[in-house]
Amino acid sequence: MTAPELMAVLGPRLSNTKLIVVANREPYIHLKQTRPGRRGLLSFLGRRGPQTSMSWMRPASGLVTALDPVMRACGGTWIAHGSGSGDRDVVDARGRVAVPPDKPSYTLRRVWLTPEEEEGYYYGLSNNALWPLCHIAYARPEFDERDWKQYVRVNQRFADTVIDEIGSSRAIVFVQDYHFALLPQLVKQVRPDTIVCQFWHIPWPNSEAFRICPWGDQILDGLLGNDLLGFHIQYHCNNFFDTVDEGLEARIDREHFAVVRRGHRTYVKPFPISIDPEPWSKLPKKTTWEADIRQTRERLGVGKAKLIFGVDRLDYTKGIPERIKAFERMLEHHPAWRGRVTMLQVGAPSREHLQRYQSISDDVDLAVGAINERFGTVGWKPVIYLRQHHGPEDVAALYRAADVCVVSSLHDGMNLVAKEFIASRADLGGVLVLSRFTGAARDLREALDVNPFAVDEFAAVLHEALSMPIADQERRMRGLRLRVEEHTIYDWAANVIQAAWRMSEAAA
Ligand code: F6P
Repeated sequence: MTAPELMAVLGPRLSNTKLIVVANREPYIHLKQTRPGRRGLLSFLGRRGPQTSMSWMRPASGLVTALDPVMRACGGTWIAHGSGSGDRDVVDARGRVAVPPDKPSYTLRRVWLTPEEEEGYYYGLSNNALWPLCHIAYARPEFDERDWKQYVRVNQRFADTVIDEIGSSRAIVFVQDYHFALLPQLVKQVRPDTIVCQFWHIPWPNSEAFRICPWGDQILDGLLGNDLLGFHIQYHCNNFFDTVDEGLEARIDREHFAVVRRGHRTYVKPFPISIDPEPWSKLPKKTTWEADIRQTRERLGVGKAKLIFGVDRLDYTKGIPERIKAFERMLEHHPAWRGRVTMLQVGAPSREHLQRYQSISDDVDLAVGAINERFGTVGWKPVIYLRQHHGPEDVAALYRAADVCVVSSLHDGMNLVAKEFIASRADLGGVLVLSRFTGAARDLREALDVNPFAVDEFAAVLHEALSMPIADQERRMRGLRLRVEEHTIYDWAANVIQAAWRMSEAAA
């Protein structure tokens, strides 16, 4: 489905119903830069005081990549934490600004958080407790009562903003992710007439793992305020049913994929998320495929070497040190590749305030340093590591230049890098190496499957990927592209929103 097709499907419904998305991360961040004024005669004459300029950026976030095109197509309001240094300067009195800044098509409403709220709700409860609780990456969740209090408080503040935004309208509220487990119930209590649905972008663990959470019952209760709750895959839905079954007084209606608690029915279903493949498949104007790749390779200075590419947020769930170690092992086992292949790793700094994220950044530095020290020569650097956020155009050029793209998450709800790589390869070239612990692996069967925890196996898969004949690459890529083209982010959005509508009508 394309954006216009999505509008054709949802348009009639949305003509009298407001679409409100709630997500912690905002789709556009405004940044303010102040340059000091000139000293001397000119400043004395008042000509050059400090200069302030405003710019904006899109954050590194799968959620934003997925939802921004939907909002552009449907219009509506996106409520998010205003985190940019220039965010307050561009909004109206209610914290609203039209976005995208260069081509406005929907409204962003910013919620301001105090440093204490951000610390407890975002860094603490969301990312130091729920994130490691839901991802099986063997990082222990940290449960702190102070963080929980801020989480409760911020969920209430966002719920109040949603209620204010609904006003006297009919509305459908589409909540995103683990930052807002309590919000659905809070909104539903005040506005039972509103359709509330939520998508949980990360895995849901098995009930045994979830039981260690001290506020598990409140979290489940909050989520059961939804009319519809979506996960990427059926397995996470089953885990959720088991968790409710063991934790709460509720009836599980497995036949209809629903939980009934205090008379309210919440449907729980899988909705595998995707991307809009169209912009990824476009080459920049005035260039050819070959020229584009030549330029990218020249810029990287990789000569004729094969290119293995990875791009991730710097997160311990993404398996970045594991992939560098597997590459090192491959160079050990297959010395013929030395000098003939380069790994390029792009790492976007993320949640840097947390110790665990500082450690993963250090671990990647160490792994890169070790392999380059061990195998590097005057003319060849085995791993090029770019520790910075790259925009979609730059990433697309790197996807096109890559011989192999590696996604080696230890655990991942879906993983959209895999889908972006596929969408970028209109030439049918390139091999996708994909961790079996991603939601994406359930669908993308033609990728080379890998267990990132098994270093020798991983090294062998890298060797297989680098050695794959072109005809085989094309056969696999054709199959992968079919899957990404036939199920886009617009199909995902249409499926979730229509299902929420149908189910709330059935319940009425
Ligand atoms: O995977 C969950 C998720 O919320 C994604 O949707 C998003 O890409 C990522 O985490 C970004 O995290 P943050 O907003 O904390 O930078």
